[in-house]
Amino acid sequence: MAEWFKAHAWKVCILEMESRVRIPSSLQKNSYINKNQIMYNSKISGLGMYVPENVVTNDDLSKIMDTSNEWIIERTGIRERRHIKKGDGNSTVVMGVKAAKIAIDRAGIHKDEIDLILFATLSPDFYFPGSGVLAQDQLEIPNCPAMDIRNQCSGFIYAISTADQFIKTGMYKNILVIGSENHSGGLDFTTRGRGVSVIFGDGAGAAVVTREDNLSKGILSSHLHSEGKYAEELSLIGPSTNRWVPEILEANDPDDISYYPYMNGQLVFKNAVVRFSEVIMEGLNKNNLQPDQIDMLIPHQANLRISQFVQKKFGLSDDQVYNNIQKYGNTTAGSIPIALTEAWEEGKINSGDIVVLAAFGSGFTWGSSIIKW
Ligand code: UT7
Repeated sequence: MAEWFKAHAWKVCILEMESRVRIPSSLQKNSYINKNQIMYNSKISGLGMYVPENVVTNDDLSKIMDTSNEWIIERTGIRERRHIKKGDGNSTVVMGVKAAKIAIDRAGIHKDEIDLILFATLSPDFYFPGSGVLAQDQLEIPNCPAMDIRNQCSGFIYAISTADQFIKTGMYKNILVIGSENHSGGLDFTTRGRGVSVIFGDGAGAAVVTREDNLSKGILSSHLHSEGKYAEELSLIGPSTNRWVPEILEANDPDDISYYPYMNGQLVFKNAVVRFSEVIMEGLNKNNLQPDQIDMLIPHQANLRISQFVQKKFGLSDDQVYNNIQKYGNTTAGSIPIALTEAWEEGKINSGDIVVLAAFGSGFTWGSSIIKW
């Protein structure tokens, strides 16, 4: 054995050099985790977004299926959305990376200071490996861990909460959170699929979550829930290990709609308005806040009517709620970071503000984050 090591030592050396093993910046500074005490908070230090250039209006959709601008606006508030155009070079990961580069730049850190990548999506580039490692490669970040979050519309909240835990324990200092979706490639753009296809759009948002020493600032708390009994009420079950590729090829069935997303719209709507309200209230109660103390609510952009219902329930003014579903449709894991980025860019989020993020969607899953900016 010793002989073998001697003979192969040069290979180990080269491997070590090539792998550029990196200790997370937080651990380099001798930080130890005291289990009984939160040592740090986390804050969002940089935001970015990217949407494809190709704008698809409601009238464009009316030309390929039986729908209308009036129906879509009345039921959803959506006027247009962005779709990746074949050949434009975009994918879920490519869009996520474009958003991430802006977020990293605005956080004022070098990409190599990222200790962990969390990638939330329901439309990954590959079946496996996950989108996190693909983003890591495109960002040219050598060896930090990269993890995928599979929680659909709530994906960004689940990812933010995960990042927050890693930072609160002192484990990591800078975490890149990406939410990105390429819906358009997999929707049914015939009248058969109109109940789903008019709603969803493509796009990505990203946030850098960074250690904050002031415990009264940053992410104050996050609240996560799921209810798996409704898993199939908003789902895409076709591409799965229930039926592997040889079976699919053998069936070759053009009428098999299990390859398109399915949504029981009314059930989802009814659950959404209840769960949004509950989980926002849960976050406010946890932090002894009243609804009128919310400076900015960023709801997952599921349907403008759902956001308006929640706004009314909490008695919030138009200035206290940010919506951009009118322009982008529902971009699932991308929707909160896209809306948060736009609200911040428009100067609607300022230091000291109470910002509430809330989501509900497939799973069913739902969650909220309460942030003191
Ligand atoms: O982000 C994940 C969470 N997702 C959501 O929160 C979405 C929640 N659900 C919704 O937003 C709404 O349920 C939808 C917008 C999806 C649908 O609105 P709805 O008012 O619940 O419509 P519906 O499904 O009950 O359908 C009403 C009618 C039907 O026709 P009939 O059976 O009454 O003749 C549908 O076939 O509207 C028809 N319809 C359409 N008509 C024109 C469904 N989609 C369309 C369409 N254009 N795109």
